[in-house]
Amino acid sequence: MSKQKQTPKRIGLLVGREWSWPPAFIEEVNRRNAGVVAEFVHLGAPTLNDDIPWDVVVDRISHEVPFYRTWLKHAAVRGVKVINNPFMWTADDKFFGATLAEANGIASPKTIVLPNKDYIPGIKHDESLRNLEYPLDWQAVIQHIGLPCILKDAHGGGWRDVYVCHTLDELLHHYDRCGLLTMIVQEFIEWDEFVRCICIGREHVMPIKYDPKERKYHEGEFLDPEMKELIVTQARKLCRALSYDMNSLEFAIRDGVPYAIDFMNPAPDFDINSLGPTFFEWAVQTMADVTIALALEERTPPKPKSKHLFAGHGRSA
Ligand SMILES: Nc1ncnc2c1ncn2[C@@H]1O[C@H](COP(=O)(O)OP(=O)(O)O)[C@@H](O)[C@H]1O
Ligand SMILES: [Mg+2]
Repeated sequence: MSKQKQTPKRIGLLVGREWSWPPAFIEEVNRRNAGVVAEFVHLGAPTLNDDIPWDVVVDRISHEVPFYRTWLKHAAVRGVKVINNPFMWTADDKFFGATLAEANGIASPKTIVLPNKDYIPGIKHDESLRNLEYPLDWQAVIQHIGLPCILKDAHGGGWRDVYVCHTLDELLHHYDRCGLLTMIVQEFIEWDEFVRCICIGREHVMPIKYDPKERKYHEGEFLDPEMKELIVTQARKLCRALSYDMNSLEFAIRDGVPYAIDFMNPAPDFDINSLGPTFFEWAVQTMADVTIALALEERTPPKPKSKHLFAGHGRSA
């Protein structure tokens, strides 16, 4: 009797214009012959009941293509392991992030969230915004945060709408131009050392010396072993709290304390020109390790009529 051939598990990739990491990742997974194949996800107009052939989907672009996010939330409920968790990705913002850091015992710069400067048409200030204090006590804001401070978009990324302000006038000048954005004001950390970590699978952490002025990674040892251990532990804690399986996390170290600066990057930059060949290869190999292991785990779609619809990853956070 011939042995029945096992159908391979499937990893699907959702990508935008990114050119270096996706083909390298697909090639690596397929080269390993581990009973798992990787390929691009292909979608038309999905119904509620379509077969979803992918056991794991790696999402690199749903922040720019909202249709993908809608489908990914559906796929997650159907038992697909989605990297990264589309529910958290939809909900996260920098004030929530700072809160999460503090709740996990990780130092965060002092942070305040500001009511928006402007609103959509139809909002009448005196009728629609009765819950808001107006005018704001800007002196109290500055007193709490100190100067210089950072004003940034709570939902921002890629350094968009990030302003260093040295005076209250500068803060007000930038705030007045922020329109519909919800902004946070943050204590400016004058750092001695700046670290960016790539974290994969909520476990594997690569701390790298990073120069935010040049926006460049530097290879080589640079942290003493205790600081390195502390940062690795904190990066894991944050990724577990966020349920993010790929992430980049920035820490600014001041007087021996690592402050979590920017750690919600669910589609972290994996470009070979940003990471350089060593860290790029690490990102390819480690993502292959983690996604293959996830694909080989049991896929547990919810039972029909179950009250508990969200199956999640089936792993403890
Ligand atoms: N509180 C802070 N103290 C010192 N530098 C900061 C602070 N917040 C942001 N920065 C600097 O500004 C850069 C961009 O801010 P970040 O929060 O990473 O925004 P984005 O999500 O747009 O990348 C950071 O990489 C860091 O160099
Ligand atoms: Mg950043």
